[in-house]
Amino acid sequence: MTKAEDRILVQEHLAHAAEPKQLSADEKTWLESRIKAVLKEKDAVLVAHYYTDPDIQRLAEETGGCVADSLEMARFGNQHPASTVVVAGVRFMGETAKILNPEKRILMPTLEATCSLDVGCPPDEFEAFCNEHSDRTVVVYANTSAAVKARADWVVTSSCAQAIIEDLDARGEKILWAPDKHLGHYVQKTTGADMLLWDGSCIVHEEFKYRGLEDLKALYPEAAVLVHPESPDAVVEMADVVGSTSQLIHAVQTLPNQEFIVATDNGIFYKMQQLAPNKTLIEAPTAGDGATCRSCAQCPWMAMNGLKNLLHVLEHGDQEVLVGPDTREAALKPLRRMLDFTSGMNLKAAGNA
Ligand code: 13P
Ligand code: SF4
Repeated sequence: MTKAEDRILVQEHLAHAAEPKQLSADEKTWLESRIKAVLKEKDAVLVAHYYTDPDIQRLAEETGGCVADSLEMARFGNQHPASTVVVAGVRFMGETAKILNPEKRILMPTLEATCSLDVGCPPDEFEAFCNEHSDRTVVVYANTSAAVKARADWVVTSSCAQAIIEDLDARGEKILWAPDKHLGHYVQKTTGADMLLWDGSCIVHEEFKYRGLEDLKALYPEAAVLVHPESPDAVVEMADVVGSTSQLIHAVQTLPNQEFIVATDNGIFYKMQQLAPNKTLIEAPTAGDGATCRSCAQCPWMAMNGLKNLLHVLEHGDQEVLVGPDTREAALKPLRRMLDFTSGMNLKAAGNA
């Protein structure tokens, strides 16, 4: 796929990414109490990503579900006894839950919530790429379709990518990495591993720009700069801490700084502020030129999760995630490897640029 085709595909998916309409306070209260009741009635648990709307994150917390990064979401869904898991996030998170829990019903507020990394890595092209480099161990980021995972030896998330690549490198393995080139480049730099990178990127993190960040840092010289490694190299270079969503939240809680410039989706501010109410959080600037995301520092697909479509899917069950048995069986192996590798590991500590 050429860069232009890739962009068109992402634009097509973005056309579906209508943001939920603003609700009145009364509507919100009614929807929330109804969702709580239906979750109980249907033996369902709500698992939400840190980038979803604060109302959804709060509901997950108040109903015994969880708010987490993509690795913890997978672990939680795998351990919880509920027969239905509602995944508020993007499609690959729902698919991961289904692969790990085939006996459970996995629902999402909308199945149209995808991810530019997933869209930019079509399974047939990925298969051909792997076949061309069959001497390499295939490591894919969790932000991929079930079919791409099915072709992989390992799945990783940003919480554990470095640890897993370090281990593979120590065993002398050469890596084929997909799809995020920025995360791949960061891990390559920090581990020194031999990595061949697929050319994919996140449309949200790609918009963080070095120049704007430099200007902001001049205004807040004491602020620590926190960066998700899906961001471009020059932005990562400026970071005091580089890490997954949970690692960046941990940094806000534990670093002595009073101010933080945060380069990731601004949905994360809900949890950061909840855990560190006295700290000041500042959004890293995004640049407009060539921007494909509609709102700054906000994933358009994460924003598709709202209270209305959450209640709708609980009541009607129509947005159910399904994965074919062959794909599931093949994708389970690299996912299980990741969960086994990371079980009992404390992955809170993030890297420095
Ligand atoms: P985390 O695994 O850090 O939660 O990241 C998921 C993601 O999609 C970031 O854009
Ligand atoms: Fe995908 Fe980027 Fe959205 Fe994360 S923020 S789900 S990587 S598009």
